[in-house]
Amino acid sequence: MYYKKLLLALMGFAVMGAKAQKRIPQVEELLNKMTIEEKIGQLNLLTPGGGVATGEVVSKDVGTKIKSGQVGGLFGVAGPDRVRKAQEIAVNDSRLGIPLLIGSDVIHGYKTTYPIPLGLSASWDMDLVEQAAQMAAREATADGINWNFSPMVDIARDPRWGRISEGAGEDPYLGSRIAEAMVKGYQGDDLAASHTMLACVKHFALYGAVEAGRDYHSVDMSKIKMFNQYMQPYKAAIDAGAASVMSSFNDVDGVPATGNKWLLTDLLRNQWGFEGFVVSDYTSLNEMIPHGLGDLQAVSALALKAGLDMDMVGEGFLTTLKKSLDEGKVTEADITNACRRVLEAKYISGLFDDPYKYLDSKRPKKDILTDANRALSRKLATRSFVLLKNHNNVLPLKKQGKIALVGPLADSRENMLGTWAPTGDFNLAVTILEGFKNVAPNATIDYTKGANISNDVDFAKNVNSLGERIVIDMQSPEAMLQEAIVLAKTSDVVVAVVGEATEMSGESSSRTDISIPESQKKLINALVETGKPVALVLMSGRPLTIPEEFDMPVSILQVWHPGVEAGNAIADVVFGDYNPSGKLTATWPVNVGQIPIYHSAKVTGRPAPESGEFQKFRSNYLDAPNAPLLPFGYGLSYTTFEYGKLKLNKKEIAQGESVSATVTVKNTGDYDGEEVVQLYLRDVVRSITPPKRQLKGFKKVMLKKGESKEVTITLSADDLKFYNAQLEFVSEPGEFEVFVGTDSDAELSESFTLK
Ligand code: NOJ
Repeated sequence: MYYKKLLLALMGFAVMGAKAQKRIPQVEELLNKMTIEEKIGQLNLLTPGGGVATGEVVSKDVGTKIKSGQVGGLFGVAGPDRVRKAQEIAVNDSRLGIPLLIGSDVIHGYKTTYPIPLGLSASWDMDLVEQAAQMAAREATADGINWNFSPMVDIARDPRWGRISEGAGEDPYLGSRIAEAMVKGYQGDDLAASHTMLACVKHFALYGAVEAGRDYHSVDMSKIKMFNQYMQPYKAAIDAGAASVMSSFNDVDGVPATGNKWLLTDLLRNQWGFEGFVVSDYTSLNEMIPHGLGDLQAVSALALKAGLDMDMVGEGFLTTLKKSLDEGKVTEADITNACRRVLEAKYISGLFDDPYKYLDSKRPKKDILTDANRALSRKLATRSFVLLKNHNNVLPLKKQGKIALVGPLADSRENMLGTWAPTGDFNLAVTILEGFKNVAPNATIDYTKGANISNDVDFAKNVNSLGERIVIDMQSPEAMLQEAIVLAKTSDVVVAVVGEATEMSGESSSRTDISIPESQKKLINALVETGKPVALVLMSGRPLTIPEEFDMPVSILQVWHPGVEAGNAIADVVFGDYNPSGKLTATWPVNVGQIPIYHSAKVTGRPAPESGEFQKFRSNYLDAPNAPLLPFGYGLSYTTFEYGKLKLNKKEIAQGESVSATVTVKNTGDYDGEEVVQLYLRDVVRSITPPKRQLKGFKKVMLKKGESKEVTITLSADDLKFYNAQLEFVSEPGEFEVFVGTDSDAELSESFTLK
């Protein structure tokens, strides 16, 4: 929206009906001066190394290439001085002086790292999500970056896939709201301002649906599922004005996304009206060769014609497009169009007015890692935690007495930031041990490790590919365990910080077993056997399978990977300075055999009995329930909430009308707290099989102890629509059931009819 509005304003033309052909005079003038080689050069995105490499290949001879007009942008370079050097070569030493785009993966904060995106999504707080993105933009732009490879909006319903950590979970409605908030946060309403940056929606498309949860694997999906479930967050981000899109590694309907014309042109540009530019993922253009689509020249031509504008790292465009032009495999117009889109992005960023606008060497000190930013990160982290269980109301703890703090993640600075934090520095992170001491200085807090994250040397080696996250202790596992038992027995309460190291999730970090590693399970068992009250602080980048731990007499606070203020934020919640309000945004399965498992699944023609009992010739398992361990939307509080009667303002509506649901929610417990009131909809009868229910609205409300509030959520006419077999976005007459409550199992329900 912002992007489009700005463009239109700049060019002074009206948008009436069909999309007007956009032209920015300065860009057109420049295009007229450019040789074909210079145009191809603008399509080339490099990473010079020396900074943060985020893939296997690192670019060579970058300076020389910039000088000869062979580079459109760089990433993995940061800091005003370093970026200035590159920008000066482009501006002063290349023939046309075209400035560079400077990209980066600012996934959950720049230097002030905040919770991993899956954690942030659990806040269900769109204002906070926008503020988080704004802070990231202010910090990154202070360091010379003008283009962010975020938001990642891939719907993920397979927690084996490590990159579920980078997105907003399983739900298209919530995912869309988060996508919008992030784009707004990064881009603001003026992309030329020095504290905003171009967003890049990724990974287009369907990357979260890789087969078997294995990263980079194939995707095969019906169009009905694509349009009704997976495409919505991408579209929402584009409607919010995202300036760029990144194509994904996977294939879509048999054609790799990077060379998929249906995806990049027919859908993205022609149907959705996207006017920004498309960049490949890291060498995903070259990866079309092993995908089986031809040699580098063939796949480069295919991708350009499909609608790819910029080639990340692989240099397929740079090295083959001229030849393809000479051989008639691409046209000059294909190249010019791609180049125009890249130049327009530079124009909109204000780089043509001032190529050095993001390069004020005073800004990093002023804008990065400020107290205010760290305070925001701490707040975001507290909002991301989900209370899964509170046995005997052990939590919150008193800030006194003798507390045994154990577990391999309790004093592990390197595991606080979370995966995909290449711009952060874990040395700045607050450990849980430090946080506890900061927040509860009058309590006696004794720490012992108790177990390794994993004792499996081969597994640890894989996890540690980019740096040591699983440290296998010199002490034997038995000795560590004994120490923990002794400490537990002499303490009033035990807090065990367990779960995943940061790099056990994220890119190229798929797992087939998503339980807590054996070494830590033993520790948990032993601690519980001491009979002391035990609270588990569970860290992970994905839903885990924890049926055994969940059955134990323990409390469980899920904290994901919280970022630079990890320890302080965890202490804030454990000691009750903040009452947890997070809600799961991806279903937690009982075991991996249930995957994919998500709340909006279809009912089937042979639904399982409501009781959960096995029944022959019904859609159920012999050896596990259909129900997950923890449903989507689930999360407890230190207080309790009671829902009153659900009321709809209309029992019958006409096409185009909206309907509102109202419920009174009361805080009936002993703490002030926030509740996420959720609304789910079931379209009872329609021309294609409906999901059991779909999230269609939510509101997060603050309720003081004893306070009641009336909460109204309105369903718009569009909320009743879906893509039918012809892929038309329609609503069909008939009955709709509304469910309102505290999670996706919400029981309050009322119906209305669409005439
Ligand atoms: C590969 C990842 O898939 C993508 O998310 C990231 O933006 C690029 N590498 C660049 O680092």
